[in-house]
Amino acid sequence: MKFCVILVGLVSLCNAIDYYELLEVSPDADETEIKKAFRSLSKKYHPDKNPGDEAARQKYLDITKANDVLSDSAKRQIYDIYGEEGVNDPSNFNKRRGPDYRFELEVDLEDVYNGLTKETSIRRNELCKKCKGTGAKDRKTIPCKGCGGKGVRMQNVGGFGFNMQMQVQCERCGGRGFLAAERCPTCGGQKVQNAIKVFNVQIEAGMDNGSAITFAGQSEQNPDWFPGDIIFILKVRNHPRFTRRGNDLLANVRLTLREALLGYSKQISHLDGHIVQIDYTGVTQPNSVRTVVGEGMPHHDMPSNKGELFITFLVDLPSKLTPDQEELVRKLLPR
Ligand SMILES: *[C@@H]1O[C@H](CO)[C@@H](O)[C@H](O)[C@H]1NC(C)=O
Ligand SMILES: [Zn+2]
Ligand SMILES: [Zn+2]
Repeated sequence: MKFCVILVGLVSLCNAIDYYELLEVSPDADETEIKKAFRSLSKKYHPDKNPGDEAARQKYLDITKANDVLSDSAKRQIYDIYGEEGVNDPSNFNKRRGPDYRFELEVDLEDVYNGLTKETSIRRNELCKKCKGTGAKDRKTIPCKGCGGKGVRMQNVGGFGFNMQMQVQCERCGGRGFLAAERCPTCGGQKVQNAIKVFNVQIEAGMDNGSAITFAGQSEQNPDWFPGDIIFILKVRNHPRFTRRGNDLLANVRLTLREALLGYSKQISHLDGHIVQIDYTGVTQPNSVRTVVGEGMPHHDMPSNKGELFITFLVDLPSKLTPDQEELVRKLLPR
């Protein structure tokens, strides 16, 4: 931006105004953030509010253009890869869609109870930034001689008694109609480069095992296609103490025979470390279940609502009695 200020007048040299900078949002901003940023900036710079102010008028036009591109997912995707000039090239919008990639993302039950942003790196091909996916040094290209720059050529298909011509894609230029004048030294003419991309995967409280978290258009880049999606599939590891059933949690608590007969006072450490205190005086049957309301999993659509916690009591009987104890039990329990 500063560079552009110095070059006032040389407009062609500073056409690379960053749309994200214009809207004062980060490149990872989601639709809502972009909408919000545009709304507040357009209020501020609206010509009705700034009569006769040429700078404000220009700013208003710029943010409107930035919003037009960034609020449209197809345009934004092209802008992210090819920049402003890419958005103005209609051929970028007719490309086929590249493959989606799915990755399993292993998380703990604690993570889906509490919610977490998990940083995950993925190696994928990106369009070479130096040559913008042309494969040509300084992006200098020459028309393909194989097809005269048309990208297609006619091929004879013969048979018994007929002869016709069919249009086929030019294999020399891959249908693009141009070739690199000289190979781009950065990617060696490959047009793409392998790079590591970091994804901040938002695991929201209450998400289900097997949920998909999609990063639209973030998959492998290639000049021939529109990138597909990166999809993370949550795989929740089994927990040693809690089992999930929908929005409910199941846990076992072991009681001694004395506790089963006379009552218990137990503390259960929950998935975020808070303590669930359960007390009882009286007899507890083995394998009976106690419901603790509101101590289950957070609901994904409203995490302040929680399911229940079902506690099953397991009773540990003593493995052996001494003769004295046997005598006492006989007296205590005559039948
Ligand atoms: C999540 O699902 C996978 C299979 O899709 C299963 O192996 C795993 O046990 C499940 N995790 C939990 C916590 O239920
Ligand atoms: Zn060709
Ligand atoms: Zn290159």
